[in-house]
Amino acid sequence: MSQPSFTARKAANPAKLSTPCLVLPMFKGQKLEGYLAELDAQLAGAINRASKLGDFSGETGSSLALMGNDRVQRILLLGCGAEEDFDQSARKKLAQAAGKNLASTKAREAHIALDGLPLAAEDSAQLLETLATEILWACYVYSETLSQPKNMPTLAKASVSAPSALPIGQAKKALNSGVAIGEGVNFTRQLGNLPANICTPTYLAKQARALGRKHAKLTVKVLDEKKMRELGMGSLLSVGHGSDEPSQLIVMEYKGGKAKEAPYALVGKGITFDTGGISLKPGGKMDEMKFDMGGASSVFGTVQAAVNLDLPINLVGIVAAAENMPSGRATKPGDVVTSMSGQTIEILNTDAEGRLVLCDALTYVERYKPKEVVDIATLTGAIIVSLGHEASGIFANDDDLADALLAAGQRSQDRGWRMPIWQEYQKQLDSRFADMQNIGAGTAGSVTAACFLARFTEKYKWAHLDVAGTSFLSAPKGATGRPVPMLVEYLRARAGA
Ligand code: BES
Ligand code: MN
Ligand code: ZN
Repeated sequence: MSQPSFTARKAANPAKLSTPCLVLPMFKGQKLEGYLAELDAQLAGAINRASKLGDFSGETGSSLALMGNDRVQRILLLGCGAEEDFDQSARKKLAQAAGKNLASTKAREAHIALDGLPLAAEDSAQLLETLATEILWACYVYSETLSQPKNMPTLAKASVSAPSALPIGQAKKALNSGVAIGEGVNFTRQLGNLPANICTPTYLAKQARALGRKHAKLTVKVLDEKKMRELGMGSLLSVGHGSDEPSQLIVMEYKGGKAKEAPYALVGKGITFDTGGISLKPGGKMDEMKFDMGGASSVFGTVQAAVNLDLPINLVGIVAAAENMPSGRATKPGDVVTSMSGQTIEILNTDAEGRLVLCDALTYVERYKPKEVVDIATLTGAIIVSLGHEASGIFANDDDLADALLAAGQRSQDRGWRMPIWQEYQKQLDSRFADMQNIGAGTAGSVTAACFLARFTEKYKWAHLDVAGTSFLSAPKGATGRPVPMLVEYLRARAGA
């Protein structure tokens, strides 16, 4: 897959540049003064006419491509909205519009002229970073299982001139960070989009080993079913029991901090296909259950980004990978299993399998004495009822950790929203035949799922992200790469960078 490269250029009068595509952000109602007036004159008043005729409003996220002249072949106008509302959300929409247009232009090179934007250094850096991330996002094309790739973008190089408050060295750094995050996001999307006959638990283990070979500070080990049996992971193993694909517990250790420093931990649900098991799902849209490893793929993407950003922290990424299938060996409703923690679980619904793999991975992570643990899972359809596709559900046993994730989501515009895990909900999990059952009584499905996990995470600070609504979409069908931007931002804040 080809992706564009980025360079930061010193500010120069955009009206004097030569480029196949000049990208120009403009506020709503912005007067054509300075270089904008010069450019407009060179284009025989085309910019002025575009706003007079109403084709370019300057509204947040709007865009208009104009053909230029021999020197500036195309001009891409991007709306920034009202100048006083140019906040994180507007800047993200600007970056997304840039990505969308640059992915479809036939230009091989583009220059993005941000010189005129009234932004302080920090906001400028953030804009450059998001621009790189969003352009990479838009230029990602899934082609793995197509005999002929479709809609390949032609853009190979993008240069950016930053707002004047941002020194060029920092502009370069911001673009590099944006690339690291964009590559992490696209890695996550690629793993999600791959069909489940390719992306099996074994395939995920191979990806982890390959990542480990590439980076000196990353160590990877994989626990097979035999090892998991020795550790007593009866809950995790019960999920893959009906499948011919062996389950895998993948452990990635990144050492960017001091040798003895406690790590942060990410734990991902990696159900490479969720049929529901004996509690079989209905057929419609069942193909989308190949995305049921969206939590796991976000661990991969975040670990890769952390490594490439060289974050000065220690980080453990754990993926609980299994395939949930019905068969003569599959777990049946009413079966009771013993988890690694010693707690027994009555499996009343084999389709509530995510919590069954996570609980053992969450017990396993105790051995790292982690500073904080965040699990990420496409855990419940109910979270889509609550939050739709806008926000990931955040559940936490620690307010400071919940706040850190909320803030990280706000800064990266990959937002979450906090949900309760109050004691009152716990009684829905009472069982006559085991210490707990794996489903609630029918209401607050996302909350009872989180309450189940809470019983395995009492020994450390823990948050759970339910990303069933955010990690993939049905239309256009595909993995989104969320919540990698939120997680990277969270880790970066924890690293104090
Ligand atoms: N993987 C699903 C949750 C899901 C649903 C993810 C839709 C993405 C889109 C999960 O394993 C599941 O089946 N959950 C059940 C739980 C129920 C049986 C308690 C659900 O949400 O219906
Ligand atoms: Mn399920
Ligand atoms: Zn599932």
